[in-house]
Amino acid sequence: MSFAAHIITAYPDMFPGPLGESLQGRALADGLWRMTMHDLRDFGVGKHQNIDDTPAGGGPGMVLRADVAAAAVDHVTAQNPLPVILPSPRGGPFTQSLAQEWAKGDGLIFICNRFEGVDERFIAARQPLEVSLGDYVLGGGEIAAMVMLEAILRLVPGVMGKLESGADESFSPANDGLLEYPQYTRPQSFEGLDIPDVVTGGDHKKLAAWRRAQAEALTQNRRADLWADFLKRKK
Ligand code: ADE
Repeated sequence: MSFAAHIITAYPDMFPGPLGESLQGRALADGLWRMTMHDLRDFGVGKHQNIDDTPAGGGPGMVLRADVAAAAVDHVTAQNPLPVILPSPRGGPFTQSLAQEWAKGDGLIFICNRFEGVDERFIAARQPLEVSLGDYVLGGGEIAAMVMLEAILRLVPGVMGKLESGADESFSPANDGLLEYPQYTRPQSFEGLDIPDVVTGGDHKKLAAWRRAQAEALTQNRRADLWADFLKRKK
């Protein structure tokens, strides 16, 4: 079975968007993953199929109705018992290890907010997993869902070509959670900068040690948080 991405949104035309290009686009065309759109408007209430309303107690913007969100999620989960993800700046952080875990699964359901958020009772009643891309606020969950899907899909078996590899890239366990070492390609000399001799010298042991030292130095200089985790694990 290929990986199933279900997306509940008021803006289904935003998809597949960038996911229809490059590696993920080819994999979609080849059936390595499937995308099913679910329009929130189809679950709207009343004559105008309303999906949102003003915040109870006052405040700016609009809030996605709990009954609408629940009806949409129930409709999708009835046929597809998959984890439900709610992209939200209030969520726990999205990480490479989550991407790896989800890539091994059968698929995911994303429910995308616009507006000021979703009625808290939807979250209490359906318990979606709230996941954040980082400490900033996007206009909605759609692009966040695309970012997560792009990170997940490239790890789904068959999506990444043989030439590419997720093994020693940044954050991967095979790389001990370090940032990735520097890469080079032709030309040998660029604006007076040469590819380091150790990279092209052919001594694989020496190159591995150099790459490791570079990865450690980069991580120590740029990411105190990852470096501290790395040191803790080493103990
Ligand atoms: N929706 C709005 N902001 C977001 C963020 N930072 N991460 C995930 N979803 C979001």
